[in-house]
Amino acid sequence: MATPLCFPKTTLSFIMLLVLLMSMGANRVVKAQAGRLPDDEVEALREIATQLGKKDWNFSVNPCNDSSWRTPYSNERSLYNNTVNCNCSYPDGVCHVVNIFLKGHDLAGTLPPSLVKLPYLKAIDFNRNYLSGAIPREWASTKLENL
Ligand SMILES: *[C@@H]1O[C@H](CO)[C@@H](O)[C@H](O)[C@H]1NC(C)=O
Ligand SMILES: *[C@@H]1O[C@H](CO)[C@@H](O)[C@H](O)[C@H]1NC(C)=O
Ligand SMILES: *[C@@H]1O[C@H](CO)[C@@H](O)[C@H](O)[C@H]1NC(C)=O
Ligand SMILES: *[C@@H]1O[C@H](CO)[C@@H](O)[C@H](O)[C@H]1NC(C)=O
Repeated sequence: MATPLCFPKTTLSFIMLLVLLMSMGANRVVKAQAGRLPDDEVEALREIATQLGKKDWNFSVNPCNDSSWRTPYSNERSLYNNTVNCNCSYPDGVCHVVNIFLKGHDLAGTLPPSLVKLPYLKAIDFNRNYLSGAIPREWASTKLENL
């Protein structure tokens, strides 16, 4: 006769917690659908907005395909640029933020440490703002090619 499976209560609740955490992980993956930014990059953009004091990014829309996240190119307004670009051609079909151009915003916040949370970021341009603070130490680990 087989011995009945018997775990101490603490082990059982530990297993339940593990299952719960695993299903939450699966949920995260499902949420990063093709054509969309993964949740953690959206969250990073929110933090960057707070750190910069930038209030006009609209998080009700998809930053990767909504025109409000990009100023059209114009010669007369070359001193102003309000653009976040994604690359949606990664093999996983998910989008990633690859550059952020915020020129001429009069932003007076701090240099955003949360840029490090955008692992695919290649270029930024924050010219003509009043950002203060040192280059955040976290930036040492980014893939930034153009500052
Ligand atoms: C954000 O985008 C939504 C959907 O297009 C729009 O209804 C809303 O007015 C926008 N919010 C702002 C602050 O522009
Ligand atoms: C932008 O992406 C969202 C979510 O993936 C989608 O629902 C929407 O139709 C897209 N809009 C455009 C203009 O492509
Ligand atoms: C914004 O700045 C980037 C980099 O400096 C540039 O490539 C892009 O054309 C600019 N866009 C506008 C609308 O000025
Ligand atoms: C987007 O990412 C893909 C995959 O890494 C790369 O092949 C492609 O050149 C990128 N597109 C741009 C415009 O950088």
